[in-house]
Amino acid sequence: MAGIILLNPGAVVKSLLTRTAPQQIKPGNLQSGTIPILRPNRKTQYTPQMLQHLLRFIKYYFRAQTKYNVHSPFVFDFVQNVLEDDRLFYAFSEVEAYRSWLKANPAKVEITDFGAGSQVTPQKVRTVASLAKYSANRPYACQLFFRLIQHYKPKTLLELGTSLGVSTAYQAKAAMNSRMITIEGCPNVAHHATETFRYLKLDNVALLEGRFDEMLPVAFKELGRLDYVFVDGNHRKEPTIRYFEKCLEHAHEGSVFVFDDIHWSAGMEAAWEEIKAHPKVSVSLDLYFFGVVFFRKEQQVQEHFTLIRYLWKPWRIGFLDLFR
Ligand SMILES: C[S@@+](CC[C@H](N)C(=O)[O-])C[C@H]1O[C@@H](n2cnc3c(N)ncnc32)[C@H](O)[C@@H]1O
Repeated sequence: MAGIILLNPGAVVKSLLTRTAPQQIKPGNLQSGTIPILRPNRKTQYTPQMLQHLLRFIKYYFRAQTKYNVHSPFVFDFVQNVLEDDRLFYAFSEVEAYRSWLKANPAKVEITDFGAGSQVTPQKVRTVASLAKYSANRPYACQLFFRLIQHYKPKTLLELGTSLGVSTAYQAKAAMNSRMITIEGCPNVAHHATETFRYLKLDNVALLEGRFDEMLPVAFKELGRLDYVFVDGNHRKEPTIRYFEKCLEHAHEGSVFVFDDIHWSAGMEAAWEEIKAHPKVSVSLDLYFFGVVFFRKEQQVQEHFTLIRYLWKPWRIGFLDLFR
């Protein structure tokens, strides 16, 4: 899947669309602002929201630099060893096999959402299959988190937003000797996540069930300082900035913070702009589906990068840069 996405930009567009595409829009099931512009009997309904995603992606795409345009040794190291690393790990097939099983699971789950909710469906009762399909991060992103963790070797990991535990599984498997805490607000969803951890034998993960604001002090007490934080829940501007600031109090100069869906909405884009401009942030990386920030003290001047794999822009090869 990752390979298809990486080699085929068309698949990226499809991925962007399916992240937001409602299965079926029926009369009475329309959210305000959702105007189908194709016939309702087509499988995918195109909405203005999806057009916005596409425009944001195009903006990102034209700004993005490949490894041939990055001069910072620290960022080049990230690109070479995390972004461009194509190795397949045993953990990938293990978690993907479990994801496939989840995607075929018709069990119903009553959802309690303490965040911005889903852009896919407003339904309060969903199937495990639907959550696995639309809420979990895609293999491409999860495998990138895996490589990032293997590269920077955090000892303490915190995740905000567990859902069924797919991204948690990838991250925990990348750091089997580290301690990870993941927080999930919906008790019914959390129940399925614990099944995931049991099935995949993840003994290094503890799940805290409750709202992020309430559970963060518990996580801080348990983990002490935070080497790695992944924020993937409550996709709204103010709460995202609040979680960032709270986690920052427990960060150090080697910490890595990852924010999911930084281009998901105007609010998330504004949150990302504020986070990356924070004086304690030394380097920020925009990878479209998520952003990464570092706090390195030796980096005197704050630097921001928008990065893409070079296969997506094969003509951006440094001194032979044809369309700069
Ligand atoms: C996008 S899903 C997480 C997906 C998961 N990280 C993955 O990739 O497999 C976000 C989750 O965060 C939870 N959530 C959102 N806001 C929350 C809050 N304020 N407190 C606790 N949980 C919250 C939701 O219930 C949802 O399950």
